[in-house]
Parts: sequence; structure tokens; C-alpha cells
Amino acid sequence: MVRQHVNPLSRFFQLPRPLPPPEELFAQPQRPIHLDIGCARGRFLLAMAQLEADRNYLGVEIRRPLVTAAEADRQALELTNLHYLFCNANVSLENWLLALPAGRLERVSIQFPDPWFKAKHHKRRVLQPELLRALAAALAPGRELFIQSDVLAVIEPMQALIETSGQFSAQTPSNPPANGERWYGANPLPLPTERETLVLRQGLPVYRLLYRRNALATTASGRSAEAGRPEATDNPATAAAPAPASAQTRAMAR
Ligand SMILES: C[S@@+](CC[C@H](N)C(=O)[O-])C[C@H]1O[C@@H](n2cnc3c(N)ncnc32)[C@H](O)[C@@H]1O
Repeated sequence: MVRQHVNPLSRFFQLPRPLPPPEELFAQPQRPIHLDIGCARGRFLLAMAQLEADRNYLGVEIRRPLVTAAEADRQALELTNLHYLFCNANVSLENWLLALPAGRLERVSIQFPDPWFKAKHHKRRVLQPELLRALAAALAPGRELFIQSDVLAVIEPMQALIETSGQFSAQTPSNPPANGERWYGANPLPLPTERETLVLRQGLPVYRLLYRRNALATTASGRSAEAGRPEATDNPATAAAPAPASAQTRAMAR
């Protein structure tokens, strides 16, 4: 039985895992990489790797049994442009990203991250300032960061964190919603995730934002020279109104 949630701050998950370099993960390591953070059972990437096979896909996930099962699926299909790795993204990804050849990372997606609604649990949320800095340093100008969630109280702090960094420019869809909403609308990716399929089937809203890395530099400390302090917006939902009970119940019932 796979646990619904694990606490990424527990001691067990603080041990950095040495993640193999792209040469050991993919048959053609020079291809651009799509990194999916929190890929769960991995079926989205399994389908993407077959649909758009000219790219490499890496899924990282903190629940090891899901990674084992996803890897078994990948091996059964003999896909060499896909890999799943067990790790805590907040502990192990930074070094892996640092070691990537410049320009190799093409796209990062964080889709339906665990909500951790209670204010004291916000620091368990996956998009923290350090991870964002590492992503900004690894993504060349023009490369994509895509986030989506069915919970406003989760995506709004992510939006604030990303936009305060000054290093990402929000993209406007070619067919923006007539009501002037800031959300991206239709999924810019060709396939839905498992959670997305479930949410859409229930007729619930999905909030999406697509960003491109802009040219604002990252300094040696990993901070952008001109942007605001991302720490100041770390999980600003702490100060915001709590999510409606219905949304909380929904998300925790996953
Ligand atoms: C709600 S699920 C969404 C799964 C998938 N992205 C989807 O849309 O169907 C969020 C996933 O992120 C994983 N996760 C949470 N924190 C993580 C972390 N620090 N590092 C890696 N994975 C994490 C969880 O275990 C869970 O599988």
C-alpha cells in the first residue's frame, strides 16, 4: 500500500541522493530534457515519452514505490528517453541541475503539487525559494516552467514566488480567456496528468501558468541581481485567507 503523503521534511528524506548524470539515464543524453517534479505513478511522462519522442523526460518523485512501478512500466516498453528517480526534489535536485550542461534543460513542470494547507505545513510544499533558484539557474532564457493546480491557495503562492524572482515571464495563451482571467486556460502540454484527468472529470477548475525564463541573470549566490527577495513571498498563503473548506477537503481526500 502506497502512502498518500509523505513528509518531505522528515529526517529520512533529508539525505541527498546522488542522481545519475543524463549519460546514464538516456540513450541520447544530448537531447533536451523535460523535468517533471512530483511525477507520482508517472503515467503522464510515460505517454509523453512516446508522443514526443525527440526529447528526454525525467520524473522525480518522493514516494519510492511509485518510482519502482513507473520504472517497471518504462522498462516493459523499452523507452530509453525516459527515466524516473526516487528523491526529495528539495534535497537532491539542486546538485543534479548544477551539473547539467548549459541549455540541456528545456522544460520543468510542477503539476498538482501536494497542497499542505495548514500554515505550519507550508514549508513542506515542493516549490521553495531554493528550488526555484536552482531551476532558474538551470533554465536558459526562453525555456519553460509550467505549473498547474486545482487549488488557488496552492498556486497563488507559487505564482508570487516565481514572479517575485523577476526571472520568469508569464506567457499569454494564443486564445486568452474572454473574461480576462490570468490563468493559462487550456493545457499547453498535449497530455493531461493523472490528477488533472481526475479533476477535470469532476468538473473542477484547473489553474495553470506557463512561464519562460527571461534574461535576468542569476548571481553567484543563485539570486537574481535585480529581483525582489523570494523569501519574502515564501508561502505567502500563510498570510492569506485559508482555502475554502470544500477545496481543502477535496485535496486532502486524494
Ligand atoms: C498530488 S500528486 C500529483 C502527481 C502528478 N503530478 C499528477 O498531476 O498526477 C503530487 C506528487 O508530488 C510528490 N512530491 C511531493 N513532495 C515532493 C518532493 N519534495 N520531491 C519529490 N516529489 C514530491 C508526491 O509524493 C506526489 O506523488
